[in-house]
Amino acid sequence: MSALTVFDLLQFQGGRLTREQYIGVLGQEYHLSRAAPANLRAAADRLASLSAGKSARHQKVSDWLRKHASEEDGHFIWALQDLNDLGVKVPPPQTYETTSLLVTVQSIATSTAPYRILGLSDVVEHFAPTLKVETLLPEGIGEASRFIGRHSKVDVQHAKEVDEAIGWLSDKEQGEVRATAKVFESLFRNFLLAAARSGHQKSRL
Ligand SMILES: [Fe+2]
Ligand SMILES: [Fe+2]
Repeated sequence: MSALTVFDLLQFQGGRLTREQYIGVLGQEYHLSRAAPANLRAAADRLASLSAGKSARHQKVSDWLRKHASEEDGHFIWALQDLNDLGVKVPPPQTYETTSLLVTVQSIATSTAPYRILGLSDVVEHFAPTLKVETLLPEGIGEASRFIGRHSKVDVQHAKEVDEAIGWLSDKEQGEVRATAKVFESLFRNFLLAAARSGHQKSRL
């Protein structure tokens, strides 16, 4: 569903990420991926309690969100390992744009329509498979390509599963998820661009 591609990220420079931009992206992906499992579980819990046996479709989506949360557990460690390899021992603070994205996710996860969190999953899970380590990441980084390299592979399956889970919802709910995905596409683009910029500003140990 999502139309966001790596070209959106690179349009401002037209090529490979610099080392500083890459460090900036990893630093903010660390925060987003660290929060993801808890946000997915919060949405799963909220959806299950709202449907409380009344909607088999919502229960199915809730079960999938919980399964998906367990598959996202620990991915922030990949970002941390990459950062460490690049000489960044302490993750940088969140940018304003990262905080904005996380606040929106959390408010959706605890709202009366928590299935809309699939709008974010739709954007991020379809985005990672468009990334190509060989042409996107800076040269000379050794093993420090875990976070993006692994996501570009595992998210192929996640993207398929998100599409399937969205299909379990009613037409009206699918429309809500599509509208939410549009919002997240914009928030995620701002998140990435601010993250890339932030790599120039952080002091590294
Ligand atoms: Fe992940
Ligand atoms: Fe994923």
